[in-house]
Amino acid sequence: WILMTTAQTPTNIAVIKYWGKRDENLILPINDSISVTLDPEHLCTTTTVAVSPSFDRDRMWLNKKEISLSSDRYQRCLREIRSRANDFEDEKKGIKITKKDWENLHVHIDSYNNFPTAAGLASSAAGFACFVFSLARLMNVKEDLGKLSAIARQGSGSACRSLYGGFVKWNMGKNDDGSDSVAVQLADEKHWDDLVIIIAVVSSRQKETSSTTGMRETVETSKLIQHRAKDNRRLVSELHLIFLILILARVQSFRIIGCVEKWNSAEGSPQAAYTFDAGPNAVLIARNRKVAALLLQRLLFHFPPHPDTDLDSYVIGDKSI
Ligand code: DP6
Repeated sequence: WILMTTAQTPTNIAVIKYWGKRDENLILPINDSISVTLDPEHLCTTTTVAVSPSFDRDRMWLNKKEISLSSDRYQRCLREIRSRANDFEDEKKGIKITKKDWENLHVHIDSYNNFPTAAGLASSAAGFACFVFSLARLMNVKEDLGKLSAIARQGSGSACRSLYGGFVKWNMGKNDDGSDSVAVQLADEKHWDDLVIIIAVVSSRQKETSSTTGMRETVETSKLIQHRAKDNRRLVSELHLIFLILILARVQSFRIIGCVEKWNSAEGSPQAAYTFDAGPNAVLIARNRKVAALLLQRLLFHFPPHPDTDLDSYVIGDKSI
């Protein structure tokens, strides 16, 4: 027999960023962060997990290519989920799995991103959230989303926020074991439902520096990061500072910022905001659909996607789940 289940998890875009860890193994951050979860249509991971007595080891495929599950991050998530597995029975199919059986049964995991992997589009967030959620469903885990978020966090920090829709906060927590470092939903996907996010994909190539390495280097070398972690009120202004240094931005990224700034000041009030994760892609946030349409028109005029320029495509994401 074979038992399988499929889950889909969207990515999230942080507006108050997680950057820097106080514990590298458990992935515990040095500050709280807040994000918006996108509509799964354009930026999501779909994961199918299967279990069968005929599987001789755990295996995983990402975008159709087999990858190794040997890293600590995968192993920790698998262990945490397996240890919470419950009895399962499907009388019709004649399948009965006890809590104890799960320890010796192996899983096959097939994951697919509908957007460029590791290009600064938060693929690890959607990926690990879906990994944990689908395995938890398969193994009949009864924990709430908060607990699952603490497990997903150990795969990739930002993943803990992708288990909820809408606006989500990751509480950094204080405990050494990470038990209070969990995500909570601040407002669901119906709140501010005409918010639109446009991602200008300046480069869809693999990132040259991973977030993990980037934040480790910042914590080791930056004096500013300590101030940022301590003083939340200064977060927003510091974000500009830290992230414009870090984002590995390209000339095109700065041009896009200039275009948004110019438009905002011409209009006399902020129409759109911008943010970046650890890469050159500009994430533009429009306060409603009308503004988004005007912004996109402007972007397409000034920065049309073209194979010879630093602008690959635009990805539109509605906030929802
Ligand atoms: C810039 O969650 O990818 O997107 O925990 O090391 O896997 P690890 O890092 P990751 O970092 C995301 C950083 C960010 C900001 C954010 O999403 O808050």
